[in-house]
Amino acid sequence: MAERIPMISVRDLYKSFGEHQVLTGVDLDVEEGTTCVILGGSGSGKTVLMKHIIGLLKPDRGQVFVEGEDVVPLDDLELERVRRKFGMVFQGAALFDSMTVYENVSFPLREHSKLAESEIRKRVLDKLAIVGLHDVAEKYPAELSGGMRKRVGLARAIVRDPKIVLYDEPTTGLDPITTDYVDEMILTAKEKLGVTSLVISHDVASSFKVADQIAFLSDGKIVAHAPPAQLRASTHPVVKLFLSTWFGKN
Ligand SMILES: Nc1ncnc2c1ncn2[C@@H]1O[C@H](COP(=O)(O)OP(=O)(O)OP(=O)(O)O)[C@@H](O)[C@H]1O
Ligand SMILES: [Mg+2]
Repeated sequence: MAERIPMISVRDLYKSFGEHQVLTGVDLDVEEGTTCVILGGSGSGKTVLMKHIIGLLKPDRGQVFVEGEDVVPLDDLELERVRRKFGMVFQGAALFDSMTVYENVSFPLREHSKLAESEIRKRVLDKLAIVGLHDVAEKYPAELSGGMRKRVGLARAIVRDPKIVLYDEPTTGLDPITTDYVDEMILTAKEKLGVTSLVISHDVASSFKVADQIAFLSDGKIVAHAPPAQLRASTHPVVKLFLSTWFGKN
């Protein structure tokens, strides 16, 4: 049987800003339908790596494949096509405060397509149901809890049926209960939609809950890449140190 092409593949990726070398040979594969968490300290280059995956940054060297297509040489118009495969959930949800939940979630559909209002309505309500928020469509973001706003952010990210959902620090700054709520949401999106997810995080507990694979970024490279249970056995000193702050030294 032919081997499946990974949904995302990064090969020997290098990126510097001036003298500052941020990525120094990143290799990473994310298989279709799985959730990969990129774990690493503040400033380790997680967001920079994600920006290369959606073509917002060009590397100094290396390749990024999305469904087998190298996106590095693509121009803005071609990147627009590739970005349709992605839904993004930003830190803090980034909703439009002056719009209702319904208007927020329907926004990408109005911006990019000429669908009939009835079709828009169907898709928006369908996605709100998936994130468990069918009854808040007419509310404004300010009327919702932090966790609910995150869910609206996810509904908006998936309204165009992306194959891949990117989450940048989805639980940073949230209380433990809301964090739990967001973790459940990431698991739900995977189960109900079959999406491939890439989650950027420095939250070890959340990562262990949602990840099929954890890729640990340190010194510009992926220094460990394994399912959560196996990552605990990593002998890499930075990985050990990072995990020990959460699980204790023994
Ligand atoms: N456009 C840019 N110009 C110059 N330096 C940049 C640029 N973008 C990122 N950097 C630098 O690259 C390094 C990695 O940044 P990045 O935002 O990827 O870190 P991160 O791992 O996402 O951290 P955090 O967990 O704090 O979000 C930082 O030192 C940052 O200052
Ligand atoms: Mg970041």
